[in-house]
Amino acid sequence: GAHHERAWRNSTEKPARRLPKVLIIGVKKAGTRALLEFLRAHPSIESPGPEPHFFDRNYHRGLHWYRELMPRSQADQLTVEKTPAYFVSPEVPQRVHDLDPGMKLLLVVRDPVTRAISDYCQAASKRRIQPFEQMAVAADDSPFTPSDTGQVRANWSAIRIGLYAQHLARWLRVFPLGQIHVVDGQSLIDNPASELAQVEQFLGIPAFTKDSHFRLRTFKGKFPCLVRSDGSVHCLNNRSKGREHPVVRESVLRRLRQFYKPHNERFFNMIGRTFEWKS
Ligand code: A3P
Repeated sequence: GAHHERAWRNSTEKPARRLPKVLIIGVKKAGTRALLEFLRAHPSIESPGPEPHFFDRNYHRGLHWYRELMPRSQADQLTVEKTPAYFVSPEVPQRVHDLDPGMKLLLVVRDPVTRAISDYCQAASKRRIQPFEQMAVAADDSPFTPSDTGQVRANWSAIRIGLYAQHLARWLRVFPLGQIHVVDGQSLIDNPASELAQVEQFLGIPAFTKDSHFRLRTFKGKFPCLVRSDGSVHCLNNRSKGREHPVVRESVLRRLRQFYKPHNERFFNMIGRTFEWKS
């Protein structure tokens, strides 16, 4: 009743678990964890830490299961979750739309060649696999330029996930472009406060994030860490982020850049914005 309502308003307690109004849908290995960790420092944002994988592999568990994963929040806060597999799972866009046609979608992108190498590093940390060059490009017959003309293995997930235009096309059949905000993964490293400011604006939450909330080039000498209000410094997981990338033969890099070029151009046309990727 009214008494109850007043009690909530006067307390700082968070009354209810709410379904997300915002999803970080991908791209895997483009900086999705950094975006979530930076965003959840905002007083208007609540989020679960782990990836729920609701709209892909846990959809059968139902909305009650999904809601129970969410932290409690105030009515004027936004709940955000991140599951990078959403971007590349064909069944996901329609399911998200069925739940909430007003869902706001965040997509972090990175040069697909570097992204593929980062993805490879993650796979190689879990099991023994062949060198990146062999995984990415099939050997051809020429003894002189082994990988310049070889077939790119587009079925390998590390390569396929980088076909951003193909994946985004499925989302744009369901959601208007205005509901998707693209975050520049490189800028998230170089200038996180400005990238976060753009996200705040897109989400319609108060401007909060400042340059002083970050300590640049602190994690592995390259990446920003978050400075909490109590002064503590929070970096991402040492073992799973910022892995050292292998040196990849220039001929293979060239072949991959050539492979991605038309896909990137299609992607840039779709979003009305370009990135300075070498591919
Ligand atoms: P590498 O591990 O290849 O360097 P995701 O969280 O989507 O899996 O992305 C991981 C990538 O986020 C890392 O790839 C790293 O380049 C990037 N990244 C961006 N900001 C970062 C930060 N503040 N700390 C660590 N990694 C960050």
